[in-house]
Amino acid sequence: MSLDTASVKPHERLAQALASDMDGVNALIRDRMASEHAPRIPEITAHLVEAGGKRLRPMLTLAAARMCGYNGLHHINLAATVEFIHTATLLHDDVVDESNKRRGRPTANLLWDNKSSVLVGDYLFARSFQLMVETGSLRVLDILANASATIAEGEVLQLTAAQDLRTTEAIYLQVIRGKTAALFAAATEVGGVIAGAPEDQINALHAFGDALGIAFQIVDDLLDYGGTTDAIGKNIGDDFRERKLTLPVIRAVALADDAERAFWKRVIEKGNQQDGDLEHALDILARHGTMDSTRDEAILWSARAKDALMTLPETELREMLLDLSDYVVARLN
Ligand code: IPE
Ligand code: IPE
Ligand code: MG
Ligand code: MG
Repeated sequence: MSLDTASVKPHERLAQALASDMDGVNALIRDRMASEHAPRIPEITAHLVEAGGKRLRPMLTLAAARMCGYNGLHHINLAATVEFIHTATLLHDDVVDESNKRRGRPTANLLWDNKSSVLVGDYLFARSFQLMVETGSLRVLDILANASATIAEGEVLQLTAAQDLRTTEAIYLQVIRGKTAALFAAATEVGGVIAGAPEDQINALHAFGDALGIAFQIVDDLLDYGGTTDAIGKNIGDDFRERKLTLPVIRAVALADDAERAFWKRVIEKGNQQDGDLEHALDILARHGTMDSTRDEAILWSARAKDALMTLPETELREMLLDLSDYVVARLN
């Protein structure tokens, strides 16, 4: 079969290149997400895992390890670890954000309840640690344990920054670097570590994951205003309803005239939202061009990600990661 590379998305091409490794990862995920003792666990994990998800983070781990010449089996465990941590944070995040759609399906908190989502999230976190212990590497444990703490810090910082119009771009960057980029960076870094790559390559992999994760989250925040529910598999406008200060809004608040400032105070600070407010917010963002300037910011981080890759071995996988860096800012889902 010849592949039509023009229409195949970079992350799908990466999935094809890593297909046999990914089969191993998916089999391991299915095996470890079950529990004989509490049937609610496989019900919920199957609901989430069968919905798919792009599997970006495990592919980053696999690609990093392979790019650095790894030939063992521990990268499979690490990739599954990373996806478990991701899935656990999504379960918790949807409770915190009171979201009711994820991966095109009703969220677990909606179908079951908050209690189940929190506890099954905890279970997946614990399972992720079991998986990484099996590699026998204290260094990867250190990296992934640190990333897990940083993700939680990012989510808590976001909680206290929400509804606060004084939130700066620096705080926003700190939030997304924590809640999203930390796991991307750990995912790529542990791939290099398990491969025994030289320190400069491991540092480059970390820098790549960090910048890619930041670009990815900036675009995710853009899509919350400019995307469609069908494409992203989540409800658009969730951030607005949750009164979160994401980059397009932070920039629009900084440029607001008196009337706009009164609007932001009402909808974000006071949380007094009415029909038509989301549309009005979109008008204001358009007036100040902050959707465009936010995309430019994402492009900047994507360029940083690509720069970091240039010090890594020149392989086909590296080409795919370069394409992926472009794709995360051009994507619609
Ligand atoms: C969702 O991540 C959470 C964010 C960091 C925005 P993904 O968009 O990678 O989620 P799935 O796994 O593909 O559903
Ligand atoms: C993503 O945060 C969750 C984590 C990275 C822990 P968001 O709340 O911004 O992402 P979505 O929109 O729910 O996927
Ligand atoms: Mg959320
Ligand atoms: Mg959230």
